[in-house]
Amino acid sequence: MTPTAPPSRPLPGTLPEPLPETLTVLGIESSCDDTAAAVLRHAPDAMPEILSSIVLGQTGLHAQFGGVVPEIAARAHAEKLDHAVEAALEQAGLGLGQIDAIAVTAGPGLIGGVLSGVMLAKGIAASRGLPLIGVNHLAGHALTPRLTDALPFPYLMLLVSGGHSQFLLVRGADSFTRLGGTIDDAPGEAFDKVAKLLGLPQPGGPAVEAEAQGGNPARFALPRPLADRPGCDMSFSGLKTAVLRARDQLVAEHGGLRAGDRADLCAGFQAAVADLLTIKAARALEVYLSDAPASPAFAVAGGVAANAALRAGLQALAQDAGVRFIAPPLALCTDNAAMIAWTGIEQLRLGARDDMSLSARPRWPLDTVSAPMLGSGKRGAKA
Ligand code: KG4
Ligand code: ZN
Repeated sequence: MTPTAPPSRPLPGTLPEPLPETLTVLGIESSCDDTAAAVLRHAPDAMPEILSSIVLGQTGLHAQFGGVVPEIAARAHAEKLDHAVEAALEQAGLGLGQIDAIAVTAGPGLIGGVLSGVMLAKGIAASRGLPLIGVNHLAGHALTPRLTDALPFPYLMLLVSGGHSQFLLVRGADSFTRLGGTIDDAPGEAFDKVAKLLGLPQPGGPAVEAEAQGGNPARFALPRPLADRPGCDMSFSGLKTAVLRARDQLVAEHGGLRAGDRADLCAGFQAAVADLLTIKAARALEVYLSDAPASPAFAVAGGVAANAALRAGLQALAQDAGVRFIAPPLALCTDNAAMIAWTGIEQLRLGARDDMSLSARPRWPLDTVSAPMLGSGKRGAKA
């Protein structure tokens, strides 16, 4: 008989080792182009304390390629992970002897980076005899409002980043329902592509937002793809193509972009993204509110949540619906390891554990029940 691999999670009915009441957890994140480590401490019924959070970015390494290059990212993670962990422990003023458990992003993401993180986490856990938990990167984003604001379940979450766009009903630390998502590009990806085609620097979001400041959002009639389709699914790729066509027409007519053209295109594009996300958020709120949650709340996360026009639209929508609006500080909205350590703490307290059979998963849908999104996450890894 072939021996079967040991189960990665405890079997139903078996209880994992008890944990100390106050947990100090090391989190590790390396799923895209940020090498991150953090130490969190949490006592039951208290707010979690972020003792340290180190994020070593790789923007400079990928800049000339116009996107994240998986091989370069993987090599950089392999080189930097040890340093990130050392720096996180040093900033927290702790040694590994004072850590109670290790939480690591086990997916979804670029496989090379995720593997590096998982291998390091396994190594530390095995050598120190510490509990290990593999965390879904998207769960990290989705649970951030509990880390920053102790938000009670259930809440509605919009995750908008360079690789993802989805509405999630967050019912528990391991209970997520996806109400809808992008069927093609993520909004951050669309911002980045629009920046590129207008000759603006990367990352595109902040550059497009700055350029849009002086622009007229009404000058170009840009589409609102899927706005009329019922449900919460989204599409941003046609919008980007519409900007490309408008640019090409201006170039054909005037030999190039004139003063004001770029600003008007950016303002029009940004307004269209904000409109689309607000229209779909209204639908998602309807679904969420139909369950009559006791303290309704709507939270956003991901780099695109930094966009002031988008935030304003979503905040106004929530306010009109009598729903609390939460936008965590930007450093915790974008990729970081504090959210991974926090998700680890929440899930460890539910009894979840992994062991040395933990594997890195390039794809790992948060909601395994709803149908997978066609074409979503084209850039794949970045969440
Ligand atoms: O969450 P994040 O740091 O990384 C992941 O994708 O996981 O998000 C990065 C994305 C990039 O596509 C960037 O262009 C976009 O967020 N972004 C913005 C803004 N700041 C960052 N998009 C629109 N407006 C912004 N101010
Ligand atoms: Zn992310």
